[in-house]
Amino acid sequence: MAQHRRGSAASSNEGSPKKPLRWNSLRRMGRLYPYVRPYRGEFALGLVMLLLSSATNLAFPGLLGGLVDATEKAPGTLNTLALQLAGILVLQAVFSFFRIVLFERVAERALASLRQAMYRHLIVLPLPYFHEKRVGELTNRLQSDIGVLQETFTTTLAEFIRQVVVIGGGLALLTYTSPQLTVFMLAVLPVVVVLAVVFGSRIRKYSKKVQDASAESNAVVEEALQGIATVKAFSGESFEWSRYETRTNTVAQLAIKSGILRGAFASFLILGLFGALVAVVWKGTTLIATGELATGQLVSFVIYSGFIGGSIGGMADVYARLQKAVGATEALLDMLDTPTEPLDARPPNELKNMQPEALPEPLPNTPHLAFSDVSFSYPARPDLPVLQHLSLSVPRGGQIALVGASGAGKSTLIQLILRFHQPQSGSIHWFGHPLETLPLAELRRTLALVPQEVVLFSGTLRENIAYGLTGTTDEALLEVAAQANALEFIQSFPQGLDTLVGERGVQLSGGQRQRIAIARALLRNPSLLLLDEATSALDSESESLVQDALQRLMAGRTSVVVAHRLSTVRNADAIAVFHKGQVVELGTHEELLALPNGRYRKLLDKQLHG
Ligand SMILES: Nc1ncnc2c1ncn2[C@@H]1O[C@H](COP(=O)(O)OP(=O)(O)O)[C@@H](O)[C@H]1O
Ligand SMILES: [Mg+2]
Repeated sequence: MAQHRRGSAASSNEGSPKKPLRWNSLRRMGRLYPYVRPYRGEFALGLVMLLLSSATNLAFPGLLGGLVDATEKAPGTLNTLALQLAGILVLQAVFSFFRIVLFERVAERALASLRQAMYRHLIVLPLPYFHEKRVGELTNRLQSDIGVLQETFTTTLAEFIRQVVVIGGGLALLTYTSPQLTVFMLAVLPVVVVLAVVFGSRIRKYSKKVQDASAESNAVVEEALQGIATVKAFSGESFEWSRYETRTNTVAQLAIKSGILRGAFASFLILGLFGALVAVVWKGTTLIATGELATGQLVSFVIYSGFIGGSIGGMADVYARLQKAVGATEALLDMLDTPTEPLDARPPNELKNMQPEALPEPLPNTPHLAFSDVSFSYPARPDLPVLQHLSLSVPRGGQIALVGASGAGKSTLIQLILRFHQPQSGSIHWFGHPLETLPLAELRRTLALVPQEVVLFSGTLRENIAYGLTGTTDEALLEVAAQANALEFIQSFPQGLDTLVGERGVQLSGGQRQRIAIARALLRNPSLLLLDEATSALDSESESLVQDALQRLMAGRTSVVVAHRLSTVRNADAIAVFHKGQVVELGTHEELLALPNGRYRKLLDKQLHG
C-alpha cells in the first residue's frame, strides 16, 4: 500500500528518465521540428538576439579593464569609456529581453500544438494500451515530458549557445591579451572546475539517498497510523516502533555522511577555486612586474576567467538537461508511433463538414450479432483463455441475457462487441458483415453501454446526458430524463439540468448516476444496448426505479444484458449461461429450468436459498 502510494507520487511529477546523447536520438528529435517550423522566423531572430547578448556580455570585462588602465595612461577618456560601458549594459539588457520573449513565444506555441497533437493521438489509442500503462505515466507524457522540452527550447538551448560563445570568444580574447597567462590559466582552472562538477553531482546523488531514506521512514509511520486499529489489536506497537527506530537511524547515518561530503566540498571550493584565482593573479602580477601586462588587462583577464570557469561548470548541467530532453522526446515519439484505433479525433468544426462513413445495409435474414467459434485472451495474459470457441447469436430486436459466475467472460464478450479488443480466432458478424470491416466510430454510435459503475464527467447534468452529442435541445433532454426516471431528482436541484456534478459538484447516488446513464443512452437512440450488471450495485429501492427505466430503454431494441440477479432476466428471449469462457446452456428461463442438473438451475437455487 505504502509502496503503491510512493510509486504513484514519484511518477506524477517526474519526466521520463534521461537518455544518452547519441547522434541517432538527436536526429529523432528532429521529428519535432514540424511543430517549430511555423515560427522559424521568430526562432532565428531569437538566436540572433542570443548571439548579440552573448557578444555584449563578452565586451564588458574588456571595457572594464580598459577603464582601469585609462586612469594612468589616458585620464581624459575616462568618461567616454564609462559611457561606453553603460551603453554596452543597455544593449545587453535589450538583447536579453527580446531573446527571452522571442524564445518563449516560439516554445509556447510550438509546444501547445505538440500537446494537442499528442492528446489527439492518445485519445484514439486502443484500450489495451491504457491497460498496460498507468494513468500517471500518460499524463506525464503531456505534462512533464513536454515541460522538459519547453525548458530545452526556452532556457537550455540558449544557455548552451551562450556558453559556447563565452568559452570560445573568451579564450580568443584572453589569448589576444596574454597568451602566456592564458596557457597558465588553462592548466589550472578547467581541472578545478571539472573536479568541482563531478564532486557536486556526487553530493546531489547522496542527498537523494538521504531524501529517499527519510521518505521510507515516513511511510512506516503513515502505514502504522492508517492501520492503527490493526496495530493495536495485534499488539504491534513495539514492532512498529523498532521499525521506525531502524529507519530513522539509517537516515541519520546517511545524513552525517552527506554532511561530511558537503564540508569537504566547501573546503575544496575554497582551496581549489580561490587557489586557482590566487595562482592566476600571482602569475599575472609577475607579468605586470616585467611590464608584459597592464593592471586593467589583469582585471579583465580575471573576470574572463571567471566567465569561462562558470560556463565550463554550467556545461555539465546543460548536458544533463539535454539528456532529459532526449529521454522525453523518445517517450513522446514512442507514444506518437503507437498505432491508433481506426478513428480520428477531429475538432468539432471539422467534424461538422465531414460526411460520416455509412454503415453497410444489413444483409437479409441475418441476426444482429453472430459470434462463431470465438476464442480470446487478453494481451496482458496471453496464456489465460478467457473465451473458448464461443458461438452465440443475438437476434434482431431480441433480448439476450448472459449469466454465470464472475470471471466467466461475460464482460469480455461485451468488450468484443465494442471492439475494444480483437478475438484471436473465430468471427463476429453484425447483420452479416464482419465486425472488423465496419467503420468503428459509426458502429459505436449505434451502441450504448450502461455499465455497473457509471462515470460522470465533471460538468453539468446537461453535458453529461448529452455527452458526445452536439445540438441537443432541452426538450429532448427532459424527455429522456423523464423516461429514465431521472426527471424528478434533476428537478429537485435548484439549477436543474445546469447542476454541476463530479468532483466539484453535487454527489449523486449510484441509482441516480445509473439513471443519468440510461438517459444518456436513450438520447443516443442506439439500436443495440449493452448492459453490464447495470443494477447489481444498487439497493432494492433504486433498483426498481432503474429496472423500470431500463425496460423502457430496451423496448424495441436489441439488447445484451449481463445480469447478476437472475430474477431480472426471467423474461429474456434467451439466457446464455457462461462457464469458463463458453456458453454451456442456452434457452428461455423455462427451458433452462427444465434441464435436469442444469447449471442455470443451480445458480438460481443458490440465489434463492442463499
Ligand atoms: N484487462 C484484462 N486483462 C487481463 N485479464 C482480464 C482483463 N479483464 C478481465 N480479465 C480476466 O478475464 C476473465 C473474464 O473476465 P470478465 O469477462 O470480466 O468476467 P465476468 O464479466 O464474467 O465476471 C477473468 O479471469 C479476468 O480475470
Ligand atoms: Mg463482469
